[in-house]
Amino acid sequence: MSDRDPSTLRSARWFAPDDQRSFGHRSRLKQMGFDTEDFKAKPVIGILNTWSDLNNCHTHFRDRAQEVKRGVWQAGGFPLEIPIMTLSESFMKPTSMYYRNLVALEVEETMRCYPLDAVVLMGGCDKTVPSLIMGATSANLPSIFLPAGPMLRGCWRGEVLGSGTDMWKYWAERQAGNLCGEAWNELEDGIARSPGTCMTMGTASTMAAVTEALGLCLPGASSIPAVHSTHARMAAAVGRRVVDLAWEQVKIRELLTEDAFHNAVVTQMALGGSTNAIVHLIAMAGRAGVRLTLDRFDEISQQVPVIANLRPCGDHLMDDFYDAGGLLALLNRIPGHLRLGARTVSGKTLGETIDGAEVYNDDVIRTPDRSVSKAGGTFVLRGNLAPNGAVIKPTAAEPRLLQHRGPAAVFANYADLKARIDDPSLSLTADHVIVLQNAGPIGAGMPEWGMLPIPKYLLAQGVRDMVRLSDARMSGTSYGACVLHISPESAVGGPLALVKSGDLITLDVAGRRLHLEVDEAELEARRADWRAPEPKFARGYGKLYLEEITQADEGCDFRFLHHGPDAPEPDIF
Ligand code: FES
Repeated sequence: MSDRDPSTLRSARWFAPDDQRSFGHRSRLKQMGFDTEDFKAKPVIGILNTWSDLNNCHTHFRDRAQEVKRGVWQAGGFPLEIPIMTLSESFMKPTSMYYRNLVALEVEETMRCYPLDAVVLMGGCDKTVPSLIMGATSANLPSIFLPAGPMLRGCWRGEVLGSGTDMWKYWAERQAGNLCGEAWNELEDGIARSPGTCMTMGTASTMAAVTEALGLCLPGASSIPAVHSTHARMAAAVGRRVVDLAWEQVKIRELLTEDAFHNAVVTQMALGGSTNAIVHLIAMAGRAGVRLTLDRFDEISQQVPVIANLRPCGDHLMDDFYDAGGLLALLNRIPGHLRLGARTVSGKTLGETIDGAEVYNDDVIRTPDRSVSKAGGTFVLRGNLAPNGAVIKPTAAEPRLLQHRGPAAVFANYADLKARIDDPSLSLTADHVIVLQNAGPIGAGMPEWGMLPIPKYLLAQGVRDMVRLSDARMSGTSYGACVLHISPESAVGGPLALVKSGDLITLDVAGRRLHLEVDEAELEARRADWRAPEPKFARGYGKLYLEEITQADEGCDFRFLHHGPDAPEPDIF
């Protein structure tokens, strides 16, 4: 077939020529037990697998890789599984975010240097998703994303438990003295009971959904629970489809258009998704050469209602979402907000993909007129405390705090916060604004510390939310009146570094304003006294990170990895 001419495959440059170099390539495939019939004139499909014993969310990925291979063989491709460094949200210090760009670089160079015609990207646990997509986008080969899928719901003494969200909730009760050690241990046994990612609408569920909205998954893939047999069948279908994609030579950047990113942001807002998606989507768009600004998130947020009734903004979990029809059904409730002509890896447009998708439970996936929130999930704030922006998720906060003025209680870094937050001599009240400095990209790798702890003595009084400010991120499973991603961050001398305890701070979410009530002359004097913290790293990856990382409003990508001229194919060297 003319459209299946093996000489057009990228891998043909490795395996087809009658020369000594290609003899070496072919003979080494045979060393692995493959016959000429296994690989001759077939697209080589790289299965980039982030499985690891250290990634609790990907424990089913060894099986799924086999299922992808089955699909690839069925469709006439040649599958090769390639391990990629995993980013395990649960175990990495200082934070998986610190390593996102390292994995993106690994993916880009892996795809460039090996004889691959197309790839399957296997990820799910938070940062694995953007890192795989960022790397694949820079390498620009045909690519399909296989999401890990959410784990099954948790349970404790008859109560349904959601990842993260219920840990924070019950930890507050334990701190308040309302939960004994035995109950706390039982919660530990019951909150994570199967393979798969966090099953609230946290960062993993959000990133999987926006990846599908970008057009990079097979239809409906992002909502399927990890352990369902449907998930295994979907993996095989991915294997079959990626072979076609290799022949069609549909490169990932052809799909990652401005319309695709519009659809991704609409999806994030309709889901009430994680604020982390903002940083990742800006970085992913940057790799694709698409300009995506913080203000665009705010604009779309004002137009798109939150219609997914999922924790932490709502009541239900991903199992319920899947049974209610999943992402396709949700998107089919808001077609007017979407750019339906955007292409997807399936070969269909987004409009064709969602057409006819039905909602089976109106409480889980609401109609726009019965939305969880009329405005979208994330507002962008500016003001003299955040000249380049900050974000807040109002749907996850106590509404009374969305318009607030209170005195600052400042902590210079996380160690200071941990040491002093419960000190009764600070005499904090529910009106105080807790401020954490030096937790941004350069200050600390931008960890998920943004849901700052409420002092124990206030928890015991029944306080469950306070206004909290930082340049950190917050877990997508977290909640509260937490202002995040303040840019520029305090470690580079942003205004957050100049706040002192007792300063008055105004938060006006409706007016998009975050203001430090200190006059400019005083701020100037403080600025003159400010000293940058000592750099944390003097060598290795940390040094590269400190030199190249951008601020939160720019996506925290490395400057030298931004979109630019493509790197040359390896065979010209
Ligand atoms: Fe992996 Fe939450 S810990 S997705």
